[in-house]
Amino acid sequence: MESSSSLQFFVALSLAMGVAYLLLVMVVILLFSWWVMPCLAHRKLKANGFSGPKPSFPLGNLNDMKKLKMTTNISSSSSSSSLIISNDIHSTAFPYFARWQKLHGKVFVYWLGTEPFLYIAEPEFLKKMTAEIRGKSWGKPNVFKHDREPMFGQGLLMVEGEDWVRHRHVITPAFSPANLKAMGSLMVDSAKNMLDRKKRALTTKELVDECKTFFFGGHETTALALTWTLLLLGLHPEWQEELREEIKHVVGDGEIVDATMLVGLKKMEWVMNEVLRLYPPAPNVQRQARQDIQVDNLVIPNGTNMWIDVVSMHHDESLWGKDVNEFKPERFKDNIHGGCNHKMGFLPFGFGGRMCVGKNLTNMEYKIVLTLILSRFSFSLSPNYCHAPSILLSLRPMHGLPLIFKPIK
Ligand code: HEM
Repeated sequence: MESSSSLQFFVALSLAMGVAYLLLVMVVILLFSWWVMPCLAHRKLKANGFSGPKPSFPLGNLNDMKKLKMTTNISSSSSSSSLIISNDIHSTAFPYFARWQKLHGKVFVYWLGTEPFLYIAEPEFLKKMTAEIRGKSWGKPNVFKHDREPMFGQGLLMVEGEDWVRHRHVITPAFSPANLKAMGSLMVDSAKNMLDRKKRALTTKELVDECKTFFFGGHETTALALTWTLLLLGLHPEWQEELREEIKHVVGDGEIVDATMLVGLKKMEWVMNEVLRLYPPAPNVQRQARQDIQVDNLVIPNGTNMWIDVVSMHHDESLWGKDVNEFKPERFKDNIHGGCNHKMGFLPFGFGGRMCVGKNLTNMEYKIVLTLILSRFSFSLSPNYCHAPSILLSLRPMHGLPLIFKPIK
């Protein structure tokens, strides 16, 4: 009797010790990956001279970001500045980055939870950083991979290394100008052909992931580029007229829009670039170093997450001049960088080997849709519009974009 109860006691004790041991191992693993590893990464960045706002465990700088965003929202709604439409959006969409830039410059370290990020809004730093790195050697931050898996799977946007080379090789020709031209007139046949060819080079799962990537990465960004265009053209009827004149000249009555004609819509292209400058649908580019990267006398350690602030660079007076926040499509006349005094200051489609693969498709869709709208309607902004560009992965008007359309003739 006594020996069976001591046996029971012994089994219970062993079980409890087993559970305690497992818990301890889990705590050690969590501490290691949430504290020790990030602290080591941070220490390395600090040793290299990168500073930034002080983080607190375990939220990093998230609390400060939330507080600064709330204060900005309250002050902009109480001063009813949302009724005033200003293109100077960086300090309202990203008040924390604007504040930290003043304290730490245009390159600094901040923390999203337990992950340190190297923030970059300096084109010259970016140029030096990317000089030696090929597309296949860039990573995408591991910390976002789990969240983005349902949307993008292992599609081109997320895939890395040799797999990225294979996917990019198969997909790039599908977006070539020749292929897109054919797509303009024979959308369905061309799409079917493309899918057949891809099926031979990618597995079914890879093909499905690419379709998801095109849908989420391509549809929304293009729709937002058009949305912000309608806002700016609604505010600038003189540019609606300029474009209508160009359409009449290049396309005729706008009934038959042919892909070859689209190349002639030059002013429309300036407008598109100016919209993508002021309201970039992809407001930032994220990368992760897969090797140590030397920038002058600094080293960005392997594994460092990077956050490249495109909105900031597109609104930087030192790069664009005093009229940086004005809508002036003509700045792109005869100048693909829009007169920006640094080649890497205008990055609506990203940069380097991993630059957007759908750029030409967007260009075509954008011109077709805008031609059809402008040749049928004139439009202005509804008095109900409330200007609140906000970030939810992409840059969108928080309260939508009510417009008043009038048919032409
Ligand atoms: C206005 C429209 C668009 C904008 C602003 C935009 C912006 C971007 C940006 C900023 C990147 C990241 C580049 C980098 O990491 O350097 C990117 C990558 C990508 N975009 Fe777009 N995009 C647009 C339209 C499209 C469309 C229409 C498609 C496809 C149907 C597409 C598919 C992709 C893919 C697959 C990548 C990943 C490329 C790679 O990593 O090799 N995008 N885009």
